[in-house]
Amino acid sequence: MDQLDVEPVFIETDVEMDNGADQGRSPHRADPTAAVDSGPRATPLRQLGLSPNHWYVVAQGTELTDQPLAVTFWHQPIVLYRGSAGQIHAIEDRCPHRQVKLSAGYVEGDRLVCAYHGWHFAPDGACTHIPYLAANQKLPTCTLRQYPVKEQDGFIWLFPGDPALAEQRSPLGVPEWEHLDYIGSAALIDVQCHYSFLIENLVDMYHGHLHGDAQVWANPILTGLEVTGDRVHAHYEADSYYTIDKIWSVAQLFVPALRKLHPEPLDVYYPYPHWMATLGDDFKLYCLFCPVDETHTRAYLIHFTSLGKFPDLHKLPMVVRRFFKSTFHNTASGLLRRVIREDLPMLQQEQAAFFRHPTYKGPELNRALVGVQQLIRQQAAEGER
Ligand code: FES
Ligand SMILES: [Fe+2]
Repeated sequence: MDQLDVEPVFIETDVEMDNGADQGRSPHRADPTAAVDSGPRATPLRQLGLSPNHWYVVAQGTELTDQPLAVTFWHQPIVLYRGSAGQIHAIEDRCPHRQVKLSAGYVEGDRLVCAYHGWHFAPDGACTHIPYLAANQKLPTCTLRQYPVKEQDGFIWLFPGDPALAEQRSPLGVPEWEHLDYIGSAALIDVQCHYSFLIENLVDMYHGHLHGDAQVWANPILTGLEVTGDRVHAHYEADSYYTIDKIWSVAQLFVPALRKLHPEPLDVYYPYPHWMATLGDDFKLYCLFCPVDETHTRAYLIHFTSLGKFPDLHKLPMVVRRFFKSTFHNTASGLLRRVIREDLPMLQQEQAAFFRHPTYKGPELNRALVGVQQLIRQQAAEGER
């Protein structure tokens, strides 16, 4: 990992500063984003596109029932629906007849039926039936865009890029979702900001100040940073009270007096376009992204507690272990929602401040964010090719 220096860096952030450290007045004018931005001043980071050649998460599997579901990925309205065998299809959410939303229609077998005139569409987007087609008329050859889509680890993953690449690239695995050694909780983030604000928030472990006793680690120090073409890995040394080795350990989450800090490694990853973090052996987080447009991001924040310190659990019958996992599923979602509630106004204020001061660069002490911005720029450039 890179050796880290402690000089402040100046990055594309929108937080207004009133400490004399704004542009042109600091003695530390070395601008690390010069290495990030290539050539003449590029598109501001907060207005960049993305690389579509990755699997993005557009919904939880349980959100898609027997009705069509409308989702939006980066300006593109998409309708998801389940065919007769439960397999998922994803096509453009725009009837080629009069351009109304197909998601307002219904599913019949493997076909999606438009609400307006009842035209039928196959999973490949082809129109297959028109109820009032005359004997001397032919079906129009209109087709809709079809997206590679799959259900994996409890979520619906969509590949919005070059379909030829879809099978070459894998969704980020979330194996803990089904694994009986983990208890999972999930909560939706729906925030009016560019996705870069959210990923920077997640990589910056110094913002625990905002969350008070809802955060399970303390005193993080960034000691390692690795940036490659498709991921950032930031390593922090931290303290944590989080150890789940007794049945009542979970009470620490709700009763601060029971907490005892001990050192734990805190590793944070940005495997583009998603995020994950581990705190010691017992605690894992994911954030699965679905950027909607330049000022709107949806994502699923997921927490897992490992039951690895309960070896006797493995002796229980599978049916009991499954019951245990499903009974405690989502027990931490209230805490996740609290953290999200605290983050949302910060992110939305950053977005609003960007509109007021689009060229402002604020001082930043966390070098991991430079790596994040570098990766966002690289991937967005690839997406434009
Ligand atoms: S608008 Fe969809 S069938 Fe007419
Ligand atoms: Fe946060």
